[in-house]
Amino acid sequence: MLVQETREPQGEGESEWVACLTYKSIATATPRAQDIDALAERARARNRSLDVTGMLLFENGSFLQTLEGPPGAVAQLWSSIQRDQRHEHIEVLSEHMAASRLFSDWDLLLEGRFGDASATRARPAAAPPAVAEHVARLVELALNADDLALNTMMAGFAEQGWTSDAILTLLIEPAARALGDAWLDDQCSELDLTIALSMLQLAGHAVRYIPSAQSIRNSRYRVLLATAPGEKHMLGTTLLADQFLAGGWQVEMAFPESEEALTNQLNAQHPDAVDIGLSDAMPRQHALDQLRSTIAHSRQIVSEYPTVVSVGGRLFAEAAASALSVGADHARKSLAGISVRLAELVRQSRKG
Ligand SMILES: Cc1cc2nc3c(=O)[nH]c(=O)nc-3n(C[C@H](O)[C@H](O)[C@H](O)COP(=O)(O)O)c2cc1C
Repeated sequence: MLVQETREPQGEGESEWVACLTYKSIATATPRAQDIDALAERARARNRSLDVTGMLLFENGSFLQTLEGPPGAVAQLWSSIQRDQRHEHIEVLSEHMAASRLFSDWDLLLEGRFGDASATRARPAAAPPAVAEHVARLVELALNADDLALNTMMAGFAEQGWTSDAILTLLIEPAARALGDAWLDDQCSELDLTIALSMLQLAGHAVRYIPSAQSIRNSRYRVLLATAPGEKHMLGTTLLADQFLAGGWQVEMAFPESEEALTNQLNAQHPDAVDIGLSDAMPRQHALDQLRSTIAHSRQIVSEYPTVVSVGGRLFAEAAASALSVGADHARKSLAGISVRLAELVRQSRKG
């Protein structure tokens, strides 16, 4: 069952996260090419009206579909699709929230092999050789789940001046389709495909929030990574340091025993952003009131100088608390991509 989420009001300028669902199923009867065409045509119209994008693969009696869009819309489609008698043995392969779409240009990209050769989809026009090579490399890295090399590759493109839209439309989306082809051609398993698509999602997520590598490097944003006053679990805060250092930020750490110790440090450092972390292991429900007051006091301290306030910990990862409920600008659900998300929030706060 797809979890319905209401969007939590977050910092100004933050992009809408999309729900992303991938499943496989078996056709109950062998469909003819025109049956699939008719299904896809109706599906496209409905997906467009719901702002849902995605792809549908059909091969040897099996469907594989990815849907991405507003959580409510994806949930609505999903309940129709699950009831559909044209397929059975439906199995969800992955279900997550993502910061960017893999198929932004496609209401429903249809790929398939049918008995009727006339209906075989023409492949999109070939990309220029240099771009095609990049796409092939992306596919290889995604299939090897080599996220480090993928991120380095993305950072390299951003540095060469590629815009994030160009990276998405010329590289990531074609790579996703090439992965679909690899699955159709039996060159990889469904599991490989699912993992590789998630890898691309992360890479897409990263570039989505990079205005340009240059502007981030020039700005050298500063972040204070702090545990909530008195919090003994520092795993998340410690891991965050790697993320921010890799993103080119100047990082200061704080493990304050009291609210006063934290606000003193904020007053001395005036960072561009502060992340305050509760335990990633234990739910700290009782700590929320204290955290709200710490954030309110921190904002008074730095009122002359806008500081983006981010919070994290198990309560936020599990959506048991939100940024809004403690007066923060952002609540991290995971450590991934956090430095680029906060860079964008800092950039937006400067515009205001
Ligand atoms: C494999 C498969 C994939 C489908 N994908 C979509 C889709 O992406 N969008 C869509 O509107 N309908 C899709 N459909 C059709 C829906 O199941 C459903 O028939 C249609 O949305 C009408 O919904 P309703 O029966 O609730 O009125 C798909 C059906 C199958 C068998």
